[in-house]
Amino acid sequence: MLDRWENAVSADASDTDKPIPGRDWWRQAVVYQVYPRSFNDSNGDGEGDLQGIISRVPYLKRLGVDAVWLSPHYPSPLADGGYDVADYRDVDPRFGTLDDFDELVAALHASGMRIVVDIVPNHSSSEHPWFREALASEPGSAARARYIFRDGTGENGDEPPSDWRSHFGGSAWQRVPDGQWYLHLFAKEQPDFDWSNREVREDFHRTLRFWSDRGVDGFRVDVAHGLAKDLSEPLRSQTTLDKGLPLDGSDPLYDRDEVHEIFEGWRRVLNEYDPPRSAVAEAWVPAERRVLYARPSELGQAFNFDLLTAPWGAEEFRMTIAKNLAEAETSGASSTWVLSNHDVVRHPSRYGLPAGTDLDRWKMADGADPAVDVAQGLRRARAATLLMLALPGSAYLYNGEELGLFEVPDLPADALQDPIWERTGHERKGRDGCRVPLPWDSDAHAFGFSTGTPWLPQPPWFAEYAASGEEGSEGSTLEFYRHAIAARRSLQRGESLEWLDAPRRDVLHFARHDGWHVIANFGDEPVALSGRVLVASGAVSADAEVPAETTVWIRPA
Ligand code: NOJ
Repeated sequence: MLDRWENAVSADASDTDKPIPGRDWWRQAVVYQVYPRSFNDSNGDGEGDLQGIISRVPYLKRLGVDAVWLSPHYPSPLADGGYDVADYRDVDPRFGTLDDFDELVAALHASGMRIVVDIVPNHSSSEHPWFREALASEPGSAARARYIFRDGTGENGDEPPSDWRSHFGGSAWQRVPDGQWYLHLFAKEQPDFDWSNREVREDFHRTLRFWSDRGVDGFRVDVAHGLAKDLSEPLRSQTTLDKGLPLDGSDPLYDRDEVHEIFEGWRRVLNEYDPPRSAVAEAWVPAERRVLYARPSELGQAFNFDLLTAPWGAEEFRMTIAKNLAEAETSGASSTWVLSNHDVVRHPSRYGLPAGTDLDRWKMADGADPAVDVAQGLRRARAATLLMLALPGSAYLYNGEELGLFEVPDLPADALQDPIWERTGHERKGRDGCRVPLPWDSDAHAFGFSTGTPWLPQPPWFAEYAASGEEGSEGSTLEFYRHAIAARRSLQRGESLEWLDAPRRDVLHFARHDGWHVIANFGDEPVALSGRVLVASGAVSADAEVPAETTVWIRPA
């Protein structure tokens, strides 16, 4: 039996020079998330930076992605990895300067890629000048009205104004020296804005224009479902977080109907540009409410995290895909697909853990218990990725997944930086395990990430996943991603798929436009195929079978 990696579709290299044309480039784009701190360090301070990204533009171009999404690059005390912004219209000096930013935009554009930046409107950093001004001002002042300050409850006002909880653990209220409390749905260094305040609204319009004027192509909108809050007295209890989904618009803090008016205003600003700037909402809400954010009159797209949370299984994936495509059709948006990002356990690790492992508990444990089945995790991760890349809509990749990187679950306690670690009293380790700086060169200091000491320690096994070893190596995950993305670029047409009968319940089979088919075998046994293999997530045999836990794209016989 001849084992080989099938990659019969190769893109004409010149294809990748051309961005997806037109206003709607984002509808079918492959977007690569760069976590700036962890991507590539050019100045040896142990943290990634913009010049580091610029030097890897040729790598990104070879990977074939259509756009780069940059996690926050703004000045920030990094209480939450940059999602605590001290100045929305500048670059953190750790990452570089506005000139570096312009150079990055130019370099990506010259290579046919677009750039999407993160925008964080629910909260600022407590170091933002507005919050400092609020602290220095009287209760009831205009400066305090940009945030959410309230008097406490209890006899001396020393109880928080309500029972609202922070996502990162503990109360969502923090007391200030004059006795008032302010709201922070995340860390206490991230005070929430009051979006009923006109100044807040206007300032974000200014920020959207500032980056759009610099050539940014789109925005990823952090916690989009949190901006509008019901702050009428008495403050009502949450119906979510502790009690779980579904959200239905009745919660005082999340997914309130009033939020849509804010994004209609944003759309008007984004449409001042030609082409209009794109936007994608991060909104952890049920699919039928998520599409509201994705309406053309609002942001245009909303992240769908359903694949990311779906257990490994044909039926679970099929239902998720079908539901989201139907929802996208009703909203007029295109769907989005995500398997990994900077907030979740990397997907090879998820798929290599025993079914039903509670990931929060797994990350609580000291070390990695249970252990990840590395071979199975990577096999399934590649199969899931190839399935995702075959779907209509846009696919969001997280830096390092193209190397097959696993989560680092056993970072030493004194290295952890995610605020979740402290706020849960050292119960949950948080998200640092997927943010460990990338390995570029297996033989170099810090695997080529930095000449200094990386801000999170890289484990020795990162050497096996370094880009240097995977580059040009047949069957490597990096080459697999390159081939799959190139094939997608040449095959992807239309925005629908047709489900076909599969031979077994643990197999998915569908057709895309122009007659290419996708077979995803979630089972333990091979399944027969008839046709010419275009791309495969694993080694396929000459016997025309799809092996266990493998996806193939084929031209049917
Ligand atoms: C979602 C971001 O993805 C996450 O990293 C961050 O901690 C929260 N929003 C708060 O901004």
